[in-house]
Amino acid sequence: MTAQLIDGKAVAAELKAHIREQIKAKIMEGKRPPGLAVILVGEDPASSIYVRNKREACEQVGIHSIYHHLSADIKEEELIALIHALNHDKKVDGILLQLPLPRQIDANKVLDCIDPQKDVDGFHAYNLGRLAQRRPLLRSCTPYGIMLLLDHIHQQYKGKHAVIVGASNIVGRPMALELLIAGSTVTVCHRFTHDLPYFVRQADILVSAVGKPEIIKGEWIKEGATVVDVGITRREDGSLAGDVEFEAARKRAAWITPVPGGVGPMTVAVLLHNTLRAAGYINSHQDDFGLR
Ligand code: GUN
Repeated sequence: MTAQLIDGKAVAAELKAHIREQIKAKIMEGKRPPGLAVILVGEDPASSIYVRNKREACEQVGIHSIYHHLSADIKEEELIALIHALNHDKKVDGILLQLPLPRQIDANKVLDCIDPQKDVDGFHAYNLGRLAQRRPLLRSCTPYGIMLLLDHIHQQYKGKHAVIVGASNIVGRPMALELLIAGSTVTVCHRFTHDLPYFVRQADILVSAVGKPEIIKGEWIKEGATVVDVGITRREDGSLAGDVEFEAARKRAAWITPVPGGVGPMTVAVLLHNTLRAAGYINSHQDDFGLR
């Protein structure tokens, strides 16, 4: 078997085109463009690239992005003061605080300060709690983007074993909740898991979000599985590597995401979608991608 590629770049482009049309239509009705505040603390090279991509995507669809680039030695209180100001700013519908943050800042404490209605990353305890209760409002971008990709290939969920590798607050945990809502039996593997290959071999749906190049061996992949690779790491030679041994996995899987061009573009597309939601452009409880 040779797996078919799940083309996240193409699906994200479709979603972005749809978002652009929605914004255009609302502006014709006299509404102001949605506003997204983007906060980057420090100079982390990967974060700088992610933030640039997000701001460019805003521009492409007609979202007004307001950029705050803060020094790496900023005090926690100053960052919290900025967030309070953005919470009260009527032109700001969404607040994106790029992670990770420098060591002197307690990320949870700061994330707790973001108004949950402006939490377009879906990282606030309120939004994660809503997802845990299977009545999500703003959903974390990467896991939700992955669900949209899986829907796109008409993935069956009920009765399937979904195995997630990596238990972060950003990807692994909300991913487990999404797949649980969809009806899969979910296993989450993490640094204390004994015998990772044992679990990966059982996966009908495998989502790996570790960030260690080729930690998932191709020979572990179940025949006919769907493989989603969230990991993206730059090797010393400058090339990008996913968590999964791509060529070997491709021989066994039915579907697989490439790195790059798989999950990454979907994270950005969902951020834009969440900003529309936060701005009241999209009826909550009804998703507008027509997919899920
Ligand atoms: N760092 C890594 N992924 C993300 C993300 O999706 N959002 C934010 N804010 N920070 C991140």
